[in-house]
Amino acid sequence: MCGIVAVIGSQEAAPLLLSGLRQLEYRGYDSAGLATVGADKGDHLATLTCRRAKGKLNNLAELVDRKGSPGHLGIGHTRWATHGKPEEHNAHPHRDSSGSLAVVQNGIIENYRFLRNELESEGIEFASETDTEVIPHLIAREIKHLQTNGCSSSGSILLEAVQKVSLQLKGAYALAVVWAETPDALVVARRQAPLVIGLGEGEFLCASDTPALAGFTRTILPMEDGEVALLTPLGIELYDHTGQRQKRSPSFLTSAEHVVDKRNFRHFMLKEIHEQPETAELWVARHLPNGLPEEVPVALPFDKSFYEGIEQIQILACGTSRHAAMVGAYLLEQFAGIPTSVFYASEFRYSAPPLVPNTLTIGVTQSGETADTLAALSMESERRNSHVNSAYSSRQLGITNRPESSLARQVTNILDIGAGIEIGVAATKTFLGQLFAFYGLALNFAARRNSRQPDEIRTLLEELRSVPNQLKVLIEKHDQLSEDLAPRFSGTQDVIFLGRGINYPIALEGALKLKEISYIHAEGYPAGEMKHGPIALLEPRVPVISIATPGVVFEKVLSNAQEAKARDAQLIGIAPEGPETEIFDALMPIPEVSEWISPLLSVVPMQLLSYHIAAHRGLDVDQPRNLAKSVTVE
Ligand code: G6P
Repeated sequence: MCGIVAVIGSQEAAPLLLSGLRQLEYRGYDSAGLATVGADKGDHLATLTCRRAKGKLNNLAELVDRKGSPGHLGIGHTRWATHGKPEEHNAHPHRDSSGSLAVVQNGIIENYRFLRNELESEGIEFASETDTEVIPHLIAREIKHLQTNGCSSSGSILLEAVQKVSLQLKGAYALAVVWAETPDALVVARRQAPLVIGLGEGEFLCASDTPALAGFTRTILPMEDGEVALLTPLGIELYDHTGQRQKRSPSFLTSAEHVVDKRNFRHFMLKEIHEQPETAELWVARHLPNGLPEEVPVALPFDKSFYEGIEQIQILACGTSRHAAMVGAYLLEQFAGIPTSVFYASEFRYSAPPLVPNTLTIGVTQSGETADTLAALSMESERRNSHVNSAYSSRQLGITNRPESSLARQVTNILDIGAGIEIGVAATKTFLGQLFAFYGLALNFAARRNSRQPDEIRTLLEELRSVPNQLKVLIEKHDQLSEDLAPRFSGTQDVIFLGRGINYPIALEGALKLKEISYIHAEGYPAGEMKHGPIALLEPRVPVISIATPGVVFEKVLSNAQEAKARDAQLIGIAPEGPETEIFDALMPIPEVSEWISPLLSVVPMQLLSYHIAAHRGLDVDQPRNLAKSVTVE
């Protein structure tokens, strides 16, 4: 996890670093720090200044304001703690023993114990409990060796030392290094953690994610796995892991990747919930143009061969993306007739099922950077491609909101959900975008495999076209309704969410949203399973939120809700208005639509209710405790 940013150029580095870090705070906010290299007024020699503060970025900004941090070269970090508590001494940057060389890192150095023991046996003293601190000590040691061997050009000595040290590190990392002896050089390196260089006017920047660069430049150069780069005021030198110089043309950020502001909303999460009709509208405009042939009802960037000969689909994902994958699996199985399984990516890595030939593996990750999902996909592709029988060879698809991410560099077939940058840690509009991606896939598979009649396909397409407008009305209505309901939850400690069939994953998502941002314990269950355990929890203080949408399991869900009501639970229904739904103590009405598209609507009241409960409790909705938006560590 964590976000890193680095800059070298003609302007003071500290304000640029703070502004970049502000855009990366969603990656972690346990502590923040920066180090700059520059000469204080009157001094000739450059020195390294390091400022670090526990907690959110504002604490660091105040510190820098008070004490300053001079220099045109610097590195910054916002931390999500992995090794060592979120205290100031564990905050990045970490320095070598002389205090003149500093490193920020995002990732985990898996062999840090071994390296630390080795360095300690050489007399090095450590100031933190982090895995990162081994890196500045290793680089300093390498620099000494190189100097002893006569290497004197300071910029290249730092580059060479980082190249050597990166070969000693195991794990996934992105790092940036500054050294007071080289005030004209910044070295960055990445392996399995994201890093993008930005080519600004008068400065070069580097960051974990593009929003940190967006305020300065649209011209970017995403670094490839294993690369090390030397940034100077004059340009960039890029090297692969073998030390070969690389030449690549930069690419350009789209305007959507530029826009990161709250508009007039109180929180990013609320803004992003309200952006969902736009997400849906864009998807319909891009993927459901008129005049497509019947055998390809949805415009997706794949040719016929992509859909051919698939016997089964497996989907790997984490968190909210996994819930979207579960709705996707329902559609792929029930609508398109393809056996489909969903796995937690973190479990799949170490207990993958036996290989089945002609399998499509789908990785779903909005950030495109979730370490578990990337590693699971790469493990799967390796074991398939090493199989002697080509029927087992790897066929993969990635569904993401970040087409420039590591996922897109790892997987050839990519479905970009195009929802625009999402800042709130709790995913909302990207979840909706992921759902739409699965509707597109299920429709194309169904059409190509003739698993549905053409009129069933046409009906679903028409229903999808109506979703943007339905969402607009629904969000307006439920924003107020949820705000009114929220005070009822002020003393609540547990909530049960029930759903069935295609809406079971929405019950899971409702529970996850509530847990993530309001810290209320919540569980999602398939409604029919409640009587096998969770019913023991029911009493008047435990609200039950039940999704009851007309369809094959409508009556069953209503009976399950009655069972909860008989135990005095407060019953909240996400269901259409009508005599059947009068059993609910409170109704969050949704339109009566076909069961197929109901998740696209039933998720909205869940999102808004969680948002308003958390906001009513005065919690930090966009940056909930202990979480980060993009989890780039295992
Ligand atoms: C983190 C976030 C979750 C998110 C999950 C997967 O745990 O807190 O909200 O759903 O990562 O993220 P991804 O980028 O892979 O969709």
